[in-house]
Amino acid sequence: MNNPVPVLTLDGPSGSGKGAVGQLCAQKLGWHYLDSGAIYRALAYVVRQAGLDAGDVEAVVQRAEDLKMECLPNPPESAVIMVNGENVDDRVRNEEMGRLASRLASIPAVRAALLRVQRRARQAPGLVADGRDMGTVVFPDAHRKFFLTAGAGVRAERRYKQLKVKGFDGSLAALFEAIQERDTRDAQRAVSPLKPAEDATMLDTSDMSIDEVVSRVLDRVIH
Ligand code: DC
Repeated sequence: MNNPVPVLTLDGPSGSGKGAVGQLCAQKLGWHYLDSGAIYRALAYVVRQAGLDAGDVEAVVQRAEDLKMECLPNPPESAVIMVNGENVDDRVRNEEMGRLASRLASIPAVRAALLRVQRRARQAPGLVADGRDMGTVVFPDAHRKFFLTAGAGVRAERRYKQLKVKGFDGSLAALFEAIQERDTRDAQRAVSPLKPAEDATMLDTSDMSIDEVVSRVLDRVIH
């Protein structure tokens, strides 16, 4: 049966602007917001805390099934990640945890376990979902789909600014490389790779402000 609750999906690589844009669109529409990357980061946190090996698939999947996390919208910054009621944002919004999240995200059984959690977020009056496979796998029947891109240098600079606020003291060059490596893994994995849905609208945000992207997206949702 068709699900009548509308979904707007925003997929794209890191630094493409989907987090800020997604939260602002959700706020303006009065819809719920799903930061699917936060779910993978929360799992990375739990796995790290438990001292598990990322290769121990059975144990990692068990943690994915038991995951208790929530995300508090915080636009235009990224949403705040809570695990078991504790704010773990400072510990998971860094490239090291991004890399672990990306590694865990390449395990098919982990993705399957997290699919249900993500689909549960589809609640009336609507959902804005951001990630890598929102339009292709998680919500293939979404009403509007966007794939945001931006030049690699622009994306690294955006991430650099976001992380600086959180006390990051690494170099832009190292961050650029880490992001490239993560995007390559996300795009080349066998299950749910980062790629635009066939019916997605492509939007290069390199030279656009967040507000410009938000109005372009909302224009398509409302009309
Ligand atoms: O959006 P983000 O940087 O917080 O995501 C962290 C990692 O989680 C990303 O490198 C790959 C994974 N991810 C995924 O595989 N599928 C999603 N829908 C969202 C994130």
